[in-house]
Amino acid sequence: MNKIGIIGNPLSHTLSPNIHDSAIKHFGLDLSFEKWELEKKELKSFFLNAKKNNVVGGCITVPHKENVLEYFDLYDDSVKRIGAANWFKIENDRIRGFNTDYIGFEKSIPENILNNLSEINCVVFGSGGSAKAVVEALFLKNAQNICIINRTFSKAEEISNKYSNSRISSQKLDSIDSVKSELKTADLIINTTSVGMGSGPQPDGNLLKNYELKNNVTGIDLVYSPKKTPFLKNISEFGGQAINGIDMLIYQAQAGFKILTDNNCPFEIMKSALKLD
Ligand code: ATR
Repeated sequence: MNKIGIIGNPLSHTLSPNIHDSAIKHFGLDLSFEKWELEKKELKSFFLNAKKNNVVGGCITVPHKENVLEYFDLYDDSVKRIGAANWFKIENDRIRGFNTDYIGFEKSIPENILNNLSEINCVVFGSGGSAKAVVEALFLKNAQNICIINRTFSKAEEISNKYSNSRISSQKLDSIDSVKSELKTADLIINTTSVGMGSGPQPDGNLLKNYELKNNVTGIDLVYSPKKTPFLKNISEFGGQAINGIDMLIYQAQAGFKILTDNNCPFEIMKSALKLD
């Protein structure tokens, strides 16, 4: 039987198997979905042996969205633009990378924000593969200002420099005064880091702690487990709109499943598999 699956580490929190098993069942496909919890050094052998092991494709999550690129033969335009991949497909003997995160992120933005992005100040925490996709989506939608804040400043700077656009700036996470003034005027704040992830190293961490926010701020946390992260609790405390990463997860999965199987799985089929209350 052909296999698809998810590459990442850790994978204890992942809901992708539930989502894709429901889609496979919905279409009656002869396909299994596996979890591939791999170290960076194991990626090479995984991709070398993928075809032999009946792997036809899969999705990629933290921390490998950039690490996988060197093992691909072909790159979809989305990967070329963003510099990270969250899906791969084996086409004959060649591995092609795709990015559907930017589609998933855009679809998860509430309409009142999406339709007014040209007047919206955005702050993006993190500078990994997910942040790159989020910045690309915001850039394509003409967000007024995008400030990328990261612990390792050089990575934030690298993303903002790529756009050579004055609307996109970068800050170091521990530059308290600069971060303070960015957050004070931010209308949309996105957490793409693993801070606050239940299975991560800092489940109680919150990058917004001690900062003042606008009372009509919208916060999107790409973390979806727990459903209400410390970041989102903080947004709610300021009276803002708090959105977790579930919808983005499903929308990126929908687009990836379509790439691999050519089937359009309804959103509700995937969502009901998560048994959310
Ligand atoms: P993804 O592919 O999901 O973007 P990633 O590439 O591993 O995952 O990126 C994780 C991001 O979370 C990085 O920006 C990382 O900051 P560094 O670039 O400084 O490593 C950020 N991150 C992870 N743990 C963090 C922490 N404890 N505090 C602040 N940022 C953190």
